[in-house]
Amino acid sequence: MVVRMSLLFVGLSLITSQGLAAAAVIPIQCGELATLTKLDLTKKSDESLALIEGLKAKVVGQDEAIQAVAERIQIARGGMNAPGRPLGNILFYGPTGVGKTKVPEALAEFLYGNPKALLKVDGAEFQQSHNIAKLIGSPPGYLGHGETVPLITQKSLDAHHTETTKISILLFDEIEKANESLWQLLLGMLDKGVITLGDNTQVDLSNTLIFMTSNVGVEEMNKVVNKIGFNTQGEQGSSEALEKIKDKNQAVGSGALARKFPPEFLNRLDKKVLFNPLGTAQIEQILNIELENVRQRALANHRFMITLTPAMKRKLIKDGFSQEYGARELKRVIDQLLVYNLATLASSGQIKKDDVIIVDFDGKDVVFSSRPAPVTVQGAADETDSNRIILTDLPEGIPAIHPAELPPAAPDGTLNLPFGSP
Ligand SMILES: Nc1ncnc2c1ncn2[C@@H]1O[C@H](COP(=O)(O)OP(=O)(O)OP(=O)(O)O)[C@@H](O)[C@H]1O
Ligand SMILES: [Mg+2]
Repeated sequence: MVVRMSLLFVGLSLITSQGLAAAAVIPIQCGELATLTKLDLTKKSDESLALIEGLKAKVVGQDEAIQAVAERIQIARGGMNAPGRPLGNILFYGPTGVGKTKVPEALAEFLYGNPKALLKVDGAEFQQSHNIAKLIGSPPGYLGHGETVPLITQKSLDAHHTETTKISILLFDEIEKANESLWQLLLGMLDKGVITLGDNTQVDLSNTLIFMTSNVGVEEMNKVVNKIGFNTQGEQGSSEALEKIKDKNQAVGSGALARKFPPEFLNRLDKKVLFNPLGTAQIEQILNIELENVRQRALANHRFMITLTPAMKRKLIKDGFSQEYGARELKRVIDQLLVYNLATLASSGQIKKDDVIIVDFDGKDVVFSSRPAPVTVQGAADETDSNRIILTDLPEGIPAIHPAELPPAAPDGTLNLPFGSP
């Protein structure tokens, strides 16, 4: 092929020291392309890798959503976000209790050490058009003007900024439940990156990552699940069943999105992520995350340690997980079966500082036993420091331990379990 052009022109914007952009054209000689230094897009900054790892440690089985968040944060940190637009407009949709709300909370926790360091607008509270005044305040001349403090203000949005991090998180939860007037507001803010309040002041969203969640299509998705026969018993949410459900949900989900949301809304989104259903493997990981939180609380407040038998873990999963509600019930079940009982035992003086509390389910009741510590259970200690020992849960095959059955600890504090090393 004859190359007719001897020069390739690449348009480039140069930023002058005054911050003004000036257009320039850099000529590149034909053939020079082959000699240029190739840049590696797979190489991520340590910051970006830490964010992805940090989110994965809190949110299980939703890697696509985590990737979407990481991309927008990367664009923000790389100073490449489009002016006059939010940092990102992301819609999460799919089944109940699978982590849609958890992702923005996990981001808030990662950035600011607090899962509540975000502004949350609950769509269900904006079902009437007059409810919008709660969000942006009433205009002058309208009832309530000057009386209601709007939920969204620049101050509330940027309340958690630090010296180094200036990213705001705005979450519109369950948007499909909101009234038309919230919709109109959303359309404007997704596009222009500003909200005009009732008193005519403007809130700038160009440092804001906007998340929206929706349960659109969930009823149809649940029918798919029932058809495939996915449940927590028997098949145990096998990865094969999960894959089938994911495929069907994808088709059901995109149809439901198109029916529910107008194209002008869908077009303004940077990402639409369909959340995956959770299977047994994911639920076990989520249970471990939640248990770790309980352990940390027990250690920090009372300095006692907790270990669970496999039977107890199975009980928590059975009671706390359903395909219909995902992991939504898990925390409540942990509170009810574990946290409340531990608090009762601690406040009645039955748990002492540094005790190890073993929790078992005997098929009928949850049984709590204690053993004085400190001890190291061989092969089961997962984290130690000079003062404390955190025990992992007992491995499969080890029966419930009651204090009387435990051998005395060795002089070095080591406890050898009679039923062999895990
Ligand atoms: N993928 C997940 N990883 C970690 N925890 C999860 C996950 N999914 C659910 N959970 C647990 O379940 C709780 C409920 O999840 P979340 O609020 O994110 O559900 P959701 O998908 O927003 O559901 P809904 O559509 O009903 O609002 C979370 O607080 C968390 O404890
Ligand atoms: Mg939610």
